[in-house]
Amino acid sequence: MNDRNWEKIERAVEQIARDAGDLILSMEHPAVSAKEGRANFVTEADVASQKQIIQALKPLLPEAGFLAEEGEGSALPDGLCWVIDPIDGTTNFMRGYRHSAISIGLVEKGAGLLGVVYNPYTGEMFHAIRGGGAYCGAEKIQAAQVPLENAIVMFGSSPYYRELTSRTFAIMEEVFQRCGDIRRSGSAALDLCSVAAGRCDGFFEARLSPWDFAASAVILAEAGAVISDAGRPLDFGKVCCICAGAPAVHRLIVECAGL
Ligand code: IPD
Ligand code: CA
Repeated sequence: MNDRNWEKIERAVEQIARDAGDLILSMEHPAVSAKEGRANFVTEADVASQKQIIQALKPLLPEAGFLAEEGEGSALPDGLCWVIDPIDGTTNFMRGYRHSAISIGLVEKGAGLLGVVYNPYTGEMFHAIRGGGAYCGAEKIQAAQVPLENAIVMFGSSPYYRELTSRTFAIMEEVFQRCGDIRRSGSAALDLCSVAAGRCDGFFEARLSPWDFAASAVILAEAGAVISDAGRPLDFGKVCCICAGAPAVHRLIVECAGL
């Protein structure tokens, strides 16, 4: 991190996420195409949102690269890189489930620096700059500390990788036996922000792409939670087995994931 005005940059990213949220909500019946893997779709709105976000981010940090879900960049460069999901929760969006997000993270030399996750349905803006705390709008947020037996743990089902199904559901059963309850929402970015805001306590998904977790990882860490690739440090350049939560819940999930 150097002497740039990161607060100013972060506020500009919030506006870019808000504008992308307005754009996708204005596209009520977007055309849909299938992607690789089962039940994996991309809509016109994902593509339009990504294009608008990248155009708007370019002047903010002209030297930064891009890694984005709809085919922009394939590897994480050494320096600054925006890691973008133009719609996290595309299936929710397509079905009118009203639970999706715009996720914009900034990574520098492999470490998360800034994260913005915007839910256009609720207007909630989750954001953080490394070292500056985590926020939902103007309110500082913090991961909760509840006894393990009452913890709520969110799961992603890795729907596009059915070879991981048995493992995922075995881990889910083990975690369920040892915590309070489980949830599955359809947006990993919002799940991770829910943990950061103390609304839930943990998250697991066996295979998640960097654009799904990059922004939320910064927010989570700043909220006092832990996020790892099954106990190892996160790698923002590849798919990871995401375990996250307040420290004790994170430990439990990593332990169950190792079964
Ligand atoms: C998906 C969502 C979902 C998770 C999938 C992700 P997408 O993102 O975050 O909750 O289970 O693994 O790919 O495809 O809607 O951007
Ligand atoms: Ca997406």
